[in-house]
Amino acid sequence: MYAFSKSVEQLRSSEIRDLMRLATQPGIISFAGGMPNNDLFPIKEIDEIFNNLPPEKKKSAFQYGPTPGYPPLLKSLKKFLKKKGLPVDSNKLLITTGSLQAINILTKEFIDPGDIIITENPSFIGAISVFKSYQARMESVPVNKDGIDIGFLKKKIEHLPTKPKFIYVTPNFHNPAGITYSKARRKELLDYLGDKNIILIEDDAYNDLYFDNEAKEMAIPMKCNEPDNVTICYTGSFSKILGPGFRLGWLLVNEEIYEKCELIKQAMDACSPNFTQVLANEFLAQGKIYPYLDFLRKEYSQRKFMMDKALKKYMPDYVKWNEPNGGFYFWCELPPNYDSSEIMKIAIKNGAVFVSGKTFDPAGVKNNNFRLSFSNMDKDQIDKGVKIIADSIDEYAKGL
Ligand SMILES: Cc1ncc(COP(=O)(O)O)c(C=O)c1O
Repeated sequence: MYAFSKSVEQLRSSEIRDLMRLATQPGIISFAGGMPNNDLFPIKEIDEIFNNLPPEKKKSAFQYGPTPGYPPLLKSLKKFLKKKGLPVDSNKLLITTGSLQAINILTKEFIDPGDIIITENPSFIGAISVFKSYQARMESVPVNKDGIDIGFLKKKIEHLPTKPKFIYVTPNFHNPAGITYSKARRKELLDYLGDKNIILIEDDAYNDLYFDNEAKEMAIPMKCNEPDNVTICYTGSFSKILGPGFRLGWLLVNEEIYEKCELIKQAMDACSPNFTQVLANEFLAQGKIYPYLDFLRKEYSQRKFMMDKALKKYMPDYVKWNEPNGGFYFWCELPPNYDSSEIMKIAIKNGAVFVSGKTFDPAGVKNNNFRLSFSNMDKDQIDKGVKIIADSIDEYAKGL
């Protein structure tokens, strides 16, 4: 027995990580992993980019780089983000090692053990794990189809012993809830936070993966309209577009917050992979990103359509879901007395796997939901896999 530090003593392997092992077993149709599709990566474009790099750029790719990021990437990414309306000139941009590192840096910057963080319920498991590792006290607020429940949030904050340090939200193409905040809900949230001195962390890892123009409009980041009396720390990622293997994300924050972020990152890993930063920069600067994103949106929206069709065909009437307008996920709701972990065991035996709801509950309790990911999946497996899961729910219900 080792005397582990207090901050890691309470860390446990999450169900989702354990499941990753099952998800890769041959023969199991997996709706579990929240990763992009292996067959959609821009391998040809990246091959071309690398082969055509001048020797000096190739050499610099193998080197350490500056902590804030590879300067040409900072420039091309700024241009890319500016096109979305993000305030890149009045804020500072930091390249991070995945956007999970951006969340990690912000948590280190603001959280002492016992400090309160408001999260959505459900929320992204990676962020929950980061918050736990800093011994934060998480207080969660439910999300409905339009976003975080503002009435609940107000009551929650009124009754807390101390003010939360920050509130962490994923307004676009939510993981796992599959929803996108309505314009009205965004406004309500910003209005409520005005002058409260509670920082808003806006995680926008799926921003480019909208399925239609209406969704594109809805997904305009709150950071684009940051009011003077609210501080928004904005995070984004190349993981869901270029690939998680790049390990590249970013953080857009005001100067005061940025200064500490840079120092924290310096101590964490000195710099993000320079190799992939060089490649990502060429991908952006050569304009390859735009046709590639069009291609991705079409592919993922086809998969979404096929999954929605299969759900309508096979799921018992009492299973509810919202059709996502972007991203990777369907979030299905079962009657309150159903236990999705038990259903998952039956589904695995029958040949399909998903992630049970409690994985995404910061308290690890609420379990009458499950997440189906349609991203990393052969299209011809969707119908068959959804049928297996629907049959497994039936099998479970008969035993109740
Ligand atoms: C909502 C959300 N935020 C952030 C991330 C982190 O991605 P990365 O660290 O690969 O950029 C993910 C990945 O699943 C996610 O779903």
